[in-house]
Amino acid sequence: MPPNICQFSRRRLIGTLGLSAAIIALSGRNLGRAGAAPTAPMADGFQLMHARTGSARLRGADQPATPIWGYAGVTPGPLLRTKRGEELKVRLVNELSEPTVVHWHGVRLPNAMDGVPHLTQPPIAPGASFDYRFSAPDAGTFWYHAHLYSSEQMDRGLYGALIVDEREKVDVDRDVLLVFDDWRLNADGTIHETSFRSMHDAAHDGRLGNHFTANGVPDFEIAVRSNERIRLRLVNAANARIMSLRLDRHRATVMAIDGQPAEPFVARDGRVTLGPGNRADLFVDALLEPSATAPIVIDSGSGERTLARLVYDSGAPARPAPRSRDPQPLPPNPLPLRMDFAGALKLDVPIEGGAMMMTGGMSGRTGPTTGPISGMLRDGFDGAAVWSLGGRASDGHSGKPLFAVKRGRTVMLALANRTAFPHAMHVHGHHFRLLDRLDDGWKPFWLDTVVVPARETWRIAFVADNRGKWMLHCHMLEHLETGMAAWFEVI
Ligand code: C2O
Ligand code: CU
Repeated sequence: MPPNICQFSRRRLIGTLGLSAAIIALSGRNLGRAGAAPTAPMADGFQLMHARTGSARLRGADQPATPIWGYAGVTPGPLLRTKRGEELKVRLVNELSEPTVVHWHGVRLPNAMDGVPHLTQPPIAPGASFDYRFSAPDAGTFWYHAHLYSSEQMDRGLYGALIVDEREKVDVDRDVLLVFDDWRLNADGTIHETSFRSMHDAAHDGRLGNHFTANGVPDFEIAVRSNERIRLRLVNAANARIMSLRLDRHRATVMAIDGQPAEPFVARDGRVTLGPGNRADLFVDALLEPSATAPIVIDSGSGERTLARLVYDSGAPARPAPRSRDPQPLPPNPLPLRMDFAGALKLDVPIEGGAMMMTGGMSGRTGPTTGPISGMLRDGFDGAAVWSLGGRASDGHSGKPLFAVKRGRTVMLALANRTAFPHAMHVHGHHFRLLDRLDDGWKPFWLDTVVVPARETWRIAFVADNRGKWMLHCHMLEHLETGMAAWFEVI
């Protein structure tokens, strides 16, 4: 079925949105260092986290606040922090008027904690709660977000960062978290709700916003002192936007991608590109003079916009001279050391459909074979199969798995993007290698989400070492909800 590119629909009204919301005043400064404080743990060691309505000054302190949904009523939600190997215990209390779940993006956790509706847990009903409990196997920058009706729940603000600290000391003065998002706002600052589940967005780039934030504010200030070394932890929390970011007048060394340490390399011209779901850890030496400022800008498609800025203290430098040693690699996480390509399960995974489709897309040949995918969908997309992954449109949990594999076996997937759009392909429960074009060598980093450009085939490989049922899907959430999802099983 050809996508009807002008169809909009209005979802049922959420009764009390904005009215019952507690107004939490957030200044960029107090959020930025560490995020909103999580609640004190309960007697049983669980931190309570309430998914609920709230409001946020997305357009700045002098503008009316935007009604949002958030963990603890704020967006980004509370910064969760633990140490590698230590247990995190979060009790999610659903105070929304619809079901939800929480997914821990990039964390190689036990399957039952992965937060995928129907596949790993039932949705958490309004008024109910669910206990998430796992120990974090890897140190790095991760994030958590809603995984039900994600194109709306995440767009309204249901996400936050999870930092897992190394057990070893890392040679930086401090960490600065930057969670980026783009929002589609009306002129009065409210979220543009009538375009949720727009077929036009679904069949094209997904929902792109018209307003950018870092840590929920339009221009986030990072206070630095001369000669410090800071670790910037970047998270792209947007529904669909590929973010091309640039840090002005500083040398940024990429230390980790998607939470996993990389062979350090200097970002050319201070530029980093993050697909939806991607993270990057940068080490930056603050080498400008006291009182200097330097922006972090995004290429918005129509020019650069400032998202955040380094603002140097006017006082004495933090130390007489900057560090003389280049950043040393972060301590390794316990990832597989080798992969057995000879014995690998090799699979072609075509990505098809969408507007301006290349290969007939969904028309006839690759209709949904898993029944209506309306299990995760409501009005608007209307259960539409706009895209397919691996030959069929799916909600990512029903029907048969894309493949099943014995635990420990290497899996090589050829992600063949036959569409006119890039897609941010995300694998749950595992990190993968991006393979070189001509041979089976790989890039010197690990990923959990990779942007596959239009009309290109990229190959990835991972060791299927985590038992359970895992999703593979596009992290452009309007694509995820219109067919570009699948699941696989590690037995
Ligand atoms: Cu970050 Cu299946 O998602
Ligand atoms: Cu996509």
